[in-house]
Amino acid sequence: MSVTQPMASVEERTQEIERELLERARHEHEHLTTLNRWTKQVLSWTLSDPQVKAVVLRFLDCLPSLRTPQAVVQHVRDYFPTHQRRLPHALRLGASLSRPGLLTAPAAAMVVRHVVEQMARQFIAGSHLHDAVAVIRRMADRGVLVSLDALGEQVASESEAEAYMQRYLSLIEELSVACRGLRAPDAVGGRPMVHLSIKPSSLSAHFDPLSMEDSVSRALDRLRRIAQQAVNHGAAITLDMEQYQLRDVTLELARRLLCEPGIGERLQLGIVLQAYLQDSESVMKELLGWLEARHRRLHVRLVKGAYWDSEIAFALQRGWGVPVYQRKLQTDQSFERLTNLVLSHAPLVHPEVGSHHPHAIGYAMAVAEAKGLAKETVEFQLLYGMGDAMQGAIHQMGYPVRVYTPLGELIPGMAYLVRRILENTANESFLRQELWG
Ligand code: FAD
Ligand code: 2OP
Repeated sequence: MSVTQPMASVEERTQEIERELLERARHEHEHLTTLNRWTKQVLSWTLSDPQVKAVVLRFLDCLPSLRTPQAVVQHVRDYFPTHQRRLPHALRLGASLSRPGLLTAPAAAMVVRHVVEQMARQFIAGSHLHDAVAVIRRMADRGVLVSLDALGEQVASESEAEAYMQRYLSLIEELSVACRGLRAPDAVGGRPMVHLSIKPSSLSAHFDPLSMEDSVSRALDRLRRIAQQAVNHGAAITLDMEQYQLRDVTLELARRLLCEPGIGERLQLGIVLQAYLQDSESVMKELLGWLEARHRRLHVRLVKGAYWDSEIAFALQRGWGVPVYQRKLQTDQSFERLTNLVLSHAPLVHPEVGSHHPHAIGYAMAVAEAKGLAKETVEFQLLYGMGDAMQGAIHQMGYPVRVYTPLGELIPGMAYLVRRILENTANESFLRQELWG
């Protein structure tokens, strides 16, 4: 069974699986992603013109910092003069009602915030423990696992980082109690029900590649406690991958945690590999050598990368080389090479494929088949609110599925929301074609 198939037959098999996935997904729902009314309105509007998109993103960026209703109203007027832009119905209401004499600023600001909150609901599951429990139960009924992300990144103070750590400690404890007795979905191969995805930049206000040692040791102090809690409760954690400049410090954090006595050999730890980075293949090969030499295992979530626009802007601003591929096809090809690399090293690594694209998913399944890997070996992961029908299709095909599920308030979640809007409105995004096709 473990004979490697020639690439031509892998491609043929990929296309067959892709067709099957789409057929199964469409059987579940006409659209792969079901957007709520508000999200549809705002996304359609941002797609109407690149300038509108830029203004919407800038507005969302500054919304959390607007302290008064008057400030919200003033920003709506400044950013979206109604005679220039075809505002979606709900925002037009907010803007026009805020005209003197029609409605008070607090009521108008409430309309605007309501639209943004409704849109956030598309991608964020809620803000309380009971929301997390409800989502875990709902997904388990459909045979799907969850990874929770407590929204928050790039903390500004150590007390904020401390609060973030406390949140994870109690989430692990309380979810472990709440999930006790909950039947794990079939085909999950002993995977934990309680799984957290953590942004390393939230573990310390000084998470900075220029002071590697200090950054790692501050973040490790908090991560060690979260990891110990996870080990005690049989939970798992993954370190999300953020901007390129934080990649090496994040990987060093993971390596140091794997060397911690009592934790490193027991913790189910994951890291994320971004296919859009031109050097991901060499970085992964080096990491594989390190794991082999130290007899450690790691979960590896392969994604394309969520910071594409900002990586380009950041590098250009500084006159640095751009670290990401600039053609979508290059990222897709890199994703396939990395799929091969990661799947070839199971069980040293536990492969996790994070994509909504049926070709990428089909390719990983075809490679797994060609390598004779059991279905439970490869976990497929999708983001909450994106590709719900695809989750069902993958589950029906017998593979484990996990949904990355953010939990939290709008203000710490705004950066996450902006990334999802960017992703869903990018020219070459698969989901954009699916949504509007
Ligand atoms: P596709 O539409 O096939 O791909 C879109 C992606 O292609 C873009 O996001 C970008 O990476 C790339 N791309 C688009 N245009 C170009 C271009 N012109 N040139 C080169 N490349 C281009 N991302 C992270 O960065 N860190 C994480 O920790 C992380 N965790 C995730 C966890 C899960 C469970 C999932 C599903 C995704 C996660 N992501 C993460 C997001 C991921 O990187 C992708 O942004 C997202 O999944 C969209 O990719 P796709 O394969 O679904 O869709
Ligand atoms: C993000 O926060 C999903 O980690 C990814 O955009």
